[in-house]
Amino acid sequence: MANDQEKEAAARASLRFIQDGQVVGLGTGSTAAYFIKLLGEQVKQGMRIRGIPTSDRSRDLAMSQGIPLTTLDECQDIAVTVDGADEVDPQLRLIKGGGGAMLREKIVASATKQMIVVADASKRVERLGKFPLPVEVIKFAKALIAKRISALGAQVNLRRNSDGSPYITDENNHILDCRFGEIRDADQLGRQLSEMPGVVEHGLFIGMASVALLARGSEIIELRR
Ligand code: 5RP
Repeated sequence: MANDQEKEAAARASLRFIQDGQVVGLGTGSTAAYFIKLLGEQVKQGMRIRGIPTSDRSRDLAMSQGIPLTTLDECQDIAVTVDGADEVDPQLRLIKGGGGAMLREKIVASATKQMIVVADASKRVERLGKFPLPVEVIKFAKALIAKRISALGAQVNLRRNSDGSPYITDENNHILDCRFGEIRDADQLGRQLSEMPGVVEHGLFIGMASVALLARGSEIIELRR
């Protein structure tokens, strides 16, 4: 089965976690986009939910699907968030940020009771780190932080757009993609990165996801923490 069908299948499987009346965090990325479209169908059929998008892209998509939105200013308790991931390990630790939205994604996840990860099964790994870890940094500090992260053993690249210009996040920062190879101690690395002045957020999501729905062919693998 094509990857896109698996992404859609994982997104569809998450719908059973959404109940009428809830505030729902809307993730970012191609799998989360399937979820937003499917949720839009539910709304058209009468489901009453309010969404909190994790990026400008997801906000625009949700609006185009007729999903009523709210903000963290109005509501700080999110029942369920459905979001994608770049890697998922057996403890449901994640690497996120391939789509550049991990700052708002992590904020929304931190305000969420139940974070559901949706992905195709290729995202499942025994150990995190093959996917370059995204680190969002303020522009002023990018070279300094790149040097410090290189000293931790990573190969660090400033993320760029296809025209070569530096990628800018929704919060007007840059992203360093940090290739660590296997990450032995994700908790420690997360702490080290968070302690660096100028790091706004990193893509390690530890202790946040409760359920992962991973599609392999027509099968949905459900992992719980
Ligand atoms: C965006 C993300 C995405 O959820 C992640 O990159 C997975 O994306 P996709 O579903 O397109 O594979 O973290 O910041």
